[in-house]
Amino acid sequence: MPATPTLPASVSATRKVASLLSHLGVSAHAVDDTLGIINPLLTVSRLHARIEQKVQETPSACTLVLQAGAAFEGLVPGQFVVIGVTINGVRHRRAYSPRSVDGATQRIAITVQRQPGGRVSNHVHDHLKVGDIIEIEPAAGDFVLPERTPPEVLLIAGGSGITPCMSMLQHLERSNSSARITLLYFARSSQDRIFAQALQEMALRWPQLNYVPLDSSVNTSTGTPTGATLCEEVLDRAMPTWRSATAWCCGPAPLMDTARRLWADGRTSGTLKLEAFGVARPSGDPNVRHQVSLQRHAEEIHFAAPTTETLLVAGEQAGYAIKHGCRQGICHECTCRLNQGAVKDLTTGDVIAGQGQTIRLCVSSALSDVQLESLN
Ligand SMILES: Cc1cc2nc3c(=O)[nH]c(=O)nc-3n(C[C@H](O)[C@H](O)[C@H](O)COP(=O)(O)OP(=O)(O)OC[C@H]3O[C@@H](n4cnc5c(N)ncnc54)[C@H](O)[C@@H]3O)c2cc1C
Ligand code: FES
Repeated sequence: MPATPTLPASVSATRKVASLLSHLGVSAHAVDDTLGIINPLLTVSRLHARIEQKVQETPSACTLVLQAGAAFEGLVPGQFVVIGVTINGVRHRRAYSPRSVDGATQRIAITVQRQPGGRVSNHVHDHLKVGDIIEIEPAAGDFVLPERTPPEVLLIAGGSGITPCMSMLQHLERSNSSARITLLYFARSSQDRIFAQALQEMALRWPQLNYVPLDSSVNTSTGTPTGATLCEEVLDRAMPTWRSATAWCCGPAPLMDTARRLWADGRTSGTLKLEAFGVARPSGDPNVRHQVSLQRHAEEIHFAAPTTETLLVAGEQAGYAIKHGCRQGICHECTCRLNQGAVKDLTTGDVIAGQGQTIRLCVSSALSDVQLESLN
């Protein structure tokens, strides 16, 4: 894991001034707004980045090379950053797993896969251009390599799940790691494989990398896989020692479910770390609805939540503007205290019941009538 860089003196000084001004009633955002008029990359509270390059990787994936301001403290390979964009006057935030460009702290690249009907990914593809400024938040997340890289590393990626793996790979190569690394990379076809050429070239110049690209094509009318899938045979062939290796897996839900099952059979001694890019949709009875009461400050709202929607979507469908941020379970802006009832946490599948537990509306569905109190 790379060391966290020291902040430039100018950023520390600006933060001190902002803190002094806050005692005089001037908010940090007001200081940022003033700095932002001079140059958006000077802000120290709400961070920004300028799009320096836009590169088409595959027909449905593009990379934005971003120059962030000096207050952006860099990232540990594998972490995500949340970007903020305004679409039709509404601010949207989404997480992307960047890699640092040439090891620079404030120069990072995110690669975005178009999602059919997706708001932010299509906006990135269709509207963002070189020179645009976007909001960016400090890097976060624990899908990272440990302090000491294990001697054998197994990376399993599917589709756009390659992005955090690529960040780790570039870091390991740049730091002359002695680890032996196997990368299993599932994509629908070679045309859809993001970083295909860069990975081929990396494998050619770096003998420690065992790169295994696999086509996992699916029958588009039935959705059933017709190509390679993750299974013991594939793992045995690619990395005979996989059961004792430390593994990281990032990709679509079925790939991650299979990895979870393979590592849970009791015959593996290594650890498996998973990163989900999307949250599973709730799968309840479409005819069942539970009554929700949600208190925020002095206001209390009531709505019926179908078991097939998250509590956030259910509230919005009932016509309420509910406080939220990322809609992906990572920013905690929709966190509520559960005062009564039970919900399902869609990120873990766990049932959360009982008074006083905290839940996130964007990744929870109701299992009974619930009483909630917003914590934001
Ligand atoms: C930690 C993390 C890292 C990530 N890293 C990357 C990355 O490096 N690259 C990358 O491409 N992605 C990454 N993602 C995913 C990314 O954050 C977004 O989720 C993705 O870009 C889709 O966002 P969107 O706004 O385009 O889609 P959204 O508008 O959020 O929609 C997502 C999907 O749901 C469908 N949908 C939306 N609303 C409804 C509805 N009401 N009913 C039914 N379906 C609906 C849409 O059709 C779409 O297919 C990451 C996610 C996480 C959590
Ligand atoms: S909106 Fe970010 S955690 Fe729910």
